[in-house]
Amino acid sequence: MSRLQGKIAVITGGNSGIGFATAKEYLAEGAKVIITGRKQQALDEAKEALQGKVLTVLSDTGNMKDIGQLKGKIESLAPKIDILFVNAGIGKFAPIDQVDEAHYDELFNINVKGAYFTIQQLLPLFNDSGSIILNASINAHIGMAGSSVYSATKGALITMARTLSAELLDRRIRVNVISPGPVTTPILGKIVPQEQVSQLREGIIAKVPLGRFGNPEEIAKVAVFFGSDDSSFVLGAELIADGGMATL
Ligand SMILES: NC(=O)c1ccc[n+]([C@@H]2O[C@H](COP(=O)([O-])OP(=O)(O)OC[C@H]3O[C@@H](n4cnc5c(N)ncnc54)[C@H](OP(=O)(O)O)[C@@H]3O)[C@@H](O)[C@H]2O)c1
Repeated sequence: MSRLQGKIAVITGGNSGIGFATAKEYLAEGAKVIITGRKQQALDEAKEALQGKVLTVLSDTGNMKDIGQLKGKIESLAPKIDILFVNAGIGKFAPIDQVDEAHYDELFNINVKGAYFTIQQLLPLFNDSGSIILNASINAHIGMAGSSVYSATKGALITMARTLSAELLDRRIRVNVISPGPVTTPILGKIVPQEQVSQLREGIIAKVPLGRFGNPEEIAKVAVFFGSDDSSFVLGAELIADGGMATL
């Protein structure tokens, strides 16, 4: 397939999970791909796993200085871009009485502020008719106890896609959202200790009508749709890919 032939894509947090699977899928569809991440070793490993076919940029989405330097770093690799997958994000869960300022700030800093200013900084590099895709979550739609701050960060991305689509109409840049349900990636092991991951997974699977976690590739394919001209009439929209968890 070559639905992204000739397109240049930037994927934030592209060294792992959904971002990595999307890099792989975008390459298979003919795109030139630049992934960002906050750890050089993880970027190097991802590049090696993709046979050296991606370009990498070290950049922390939670750091405004890094975001300020991102445009220059991307520009040195590709003067113009067509697709930005704003994927870098973290999960943290706690009931409201245990949420402190650091928990709140870290989530909003990376998931919302980082996403917003990454878009702002990279907009000058965009070709007209480009596509921006935000990775939100079904947590924005379900009342999962313990997810109040995380869910709010993802809800913010959904409204951001609508307003930015309106602001970018003259450039025909479309902004859309993917809201994944539970997907098998390293993220759970970053949220709870490794020994608790399988128990957590079982509890979540019980709530998924399809009875399983999604694969990162199943989200990557949605990211191909939004990045390609197949979605040329779709803007400010959200596609929930969740095995029915929020929708049935
Ligand atoms: N997996 C799910 O069930 C699920 C469901 C709904 C939504 N999502 C969303 O999907 C996105 C990708 O998550 P994933 O499941 O693929 O998890 P993942 O494997 O942990 O991937 C997240 C990526 O984002 C990067 N990242 C995090 N903070 C960053 C920062 N400050 N600067 C730069 N990169 C940063 C991570 O880098 P490090 O390796 O350095 O941490 C990693 O490369 C997230 O926004 C997440 O909220 C995931």
